[in-house]
Amino acid sequence: MAIRTRLTDLLEIEHPVVLGGMGSGTSPELVAAVSEAGGLGVQGGAGRPPEVLGSLAAEIRSRTRRPFGVNLLLFMASPEQREALLQVAPPVFSTSWPMPEDDLRPLFERAHSAGSRVMHMVNGVPEAERAAEAGADVIVAQGTEGGGHVALISTLVLTPMVVRAVAPVPVLAAGGIADGSGLAAALMLGAEGVLMGTRFLATPESPWPASFKQAIVASDGHDTLLSDILDIAKGNLWPGAFDRVRRNRLLEDWLGREGEVRRHRNAIAARMRQAVAEDDAENGELNFGQVAGLIDAIEPAAEIVRRVAAEAEQLLTTRSGLVTDKSPA
Ligand SMILES: Cc1cc2nc3c(=O)[nH]c(=O)nc-3n(C[C@H](O)[C@H](O)[C@H](O)COP(=O)(O)O)c2cc1C
Repeated sequence: MAIRTRLTDLLEIEHPVVLGGMGSGTSPELVAAVSEAGGLGVQGGAGRPPEVLGSLAAEIRSRTRRPFGVNLLLFMASPEQREALLQVAPPVFSTSWPMPEDDLRPLFERAHSAGSRVMHMVNGVPEAERAAEAGADVIVAQGTEGGGHVALISTLVLTPMVVRAVAPVPVLAAGGIADGSGLAAALMLGAEGVLMGTRFLATPESPWPASFKQAIVASDGHDTLLSDILDIAKGNLWPGAFDRVRRNRLLEDWLGREGEVRRHRNAIAARMRQAVAEDDAENGELNFGQVAGLIDAIEPAAEIVRRVAAEAEQLLTTRSGLVTDKSPA
């Protein structure tokens, strides 16, 4: 048994399960593990120097012959980074968060000429229409429950709206998905698969510090909030996004004090860097999603891919038994 969708056909992968191209949360090891298990691994490229994009892709290629992607956050991607990724020509050229004036069509055309498929993430219908018109091959609809940078509309609402708006372009649902019920539900919403971030952070292959991963496992899903504070500290102006982040000591110290955050931003950014070095989940930037409430263990990425697909297969098969021609007695 297998779930075959327009995504699995287009990308020639086994399972409609994609790893989000998380800037801070992916590594060639994680990407290759997801791709080897039959999903699509995507390496985060945000903030990496152009030459590093090439070496990351080379390392992924040395670990797997299966398709993979590399992601750029367009609002912060320099012309040199874009050029470097076009040269790398990953099987999937993954993009998100462009500025309104960024002309996507020439970029997507060049990615196509290099032999890549283009997968673009959106947080609303207008952005989805823009990406479809520019020639994206796959559009990711990311809801507000997701980890990291998100907008304000939920996955349950956004996914079918994007599916309708961009048909026949295949759509992936992202935000709040960690298991087979999430995949089965996404398929019912009209998506061709799912993209998961938080679930793959809680894996041995993720480069996150151990205490950050444990915070996901310990989370009941109610401990995140949307904030601008850490972006102000890092000097990042995300177009239209809020950061979904764990409400830890760092957040508690600065919530509601945005003016002071601007003044002390160098010290706060240094505290965040130090927290990574010291494996300190209370003072680090822990962008994870509400779906942490469904994650109970750190598990190998390959097991997650296979289990999510198998659970969804099972659910789609058994739940069809709910449909009956018998009227209630
Ligand atoms: C720590 C972290 C970093 C992320 N970085 C990026 C990124 O650089 N580019 C991107 O397109 N998406 C990024 N995302 C978003 C993910 O690709 C994905 O859309 C999101 O995690 C889905 O929601 P989930 O966490 O509920 O699975 C990031 C998410 C997290 C949790």
